[in-house]
Amino acid sequence: MTADVIDGKAFGENLKLGVAKQVAVLKEKYGLTPGLAVVIVGEDPASQVYVRNKNKSTKAAGMNSYEHRLDDTVTEQALLSLVTELNEDPAVHGILVQLPLPKHINEAAVIDAIAPAKDVDGFHVINSGLLATGGKGMVPCTPLGCIMMLKDRLGSLSGLDAVVVGRSNIVGKPMAQLLLNESCTVTIAHSRTRNLAEVVKRSDIVVAAVGVPELVKGDWIKKGATVIDVGINRIEKDDGQGGKKMRLIGDVEYDKAVQHAGAITPVPGGVGPMTIAVLLKNTVTAACRQAGIDEPEA
Ligand code: GUN
Repeated sequence: MTADVIDGKAFGENLKLGVAKQVAVLKEKYGLTPGLAVVIVGEDPASQVYVRNKNKSTKAAGMNSYEHRLDDTVTEQALLSLVTELNEDPAVHGILVQLPLPKHINEAAVIDAIAPAKDVDGFHVINSGLLATGGKGMVPCTPLGCIMMLKDRLGSLSGLDAVVVGRSNIVGKPMAQLLLNESCTVTIAHSRTRNLAEVVKRSDIVVAAVGVPELVKGDWIKKGATVIDVGINRIEKDDGQGGKKMRLIGDVEYDKAVQHAGAITPVPGGVGPMTIAVLLKNTVTAACRQAGIDEPEA
């Protein structure tokens, strides 16, 4: 048996179509055009690519996109002033400050400065607190997309054993909260977990977000389990002609895992392409809440 491959690209495209439909209704019925502001500091090449894609997708969905590019010498104070301006701008419903920020800027202080209602990344402590206590906040995009894919595949997740490998604030911790909210029995494992193989072997759901290439071995995967690989690791490989080429691999040993899992996300083409679609969805959610209207059907 080989696993079904979960097509994150198709999933994301479908989600984007739904968002575009919602935006069309908001414009026509309420004269409301959701707006997303993205702030990028410096020239980090990966961040540049993400921000360009976010900008393009936002516009394609019919929303307004506001891009703010700041030099990497910008002071923390100037960045905080921009965030305050965006908090007060009624045309801006969502604010995303692209991470990582240069070392001289305190990331936590910047995230703290974003109005929680406009925090479409869901990184503000108010939003992580709301997620932990079952409140209605903004939920981080990558874990929210992962839970959507899991529910799409499995229906109810109630009572299933789930392991999240990784404990970051961006993915691991909110992912564990979301699985708990779906009544899974959740284990949070990480790079220091002693009996990782045993924990993975008993899990119906494996979410790997630890940033270690192929840490999760394929033969640890329980027969029929659903595997979501959030890892994106750039590895240098021989190109067979005496040179080197870059290859993307996940946190799961994919080639072996497909022989055990019931379904698995590939890298690339799994979680990555779905994340921007969730960001757009979060922007629509934020715009509707700020306007005090119900979110249209997707
Ligand atoms: N850098 C890499 N991923 C993300 C993300 O999801 N949000 C932000 N703000 N920065 C990132």
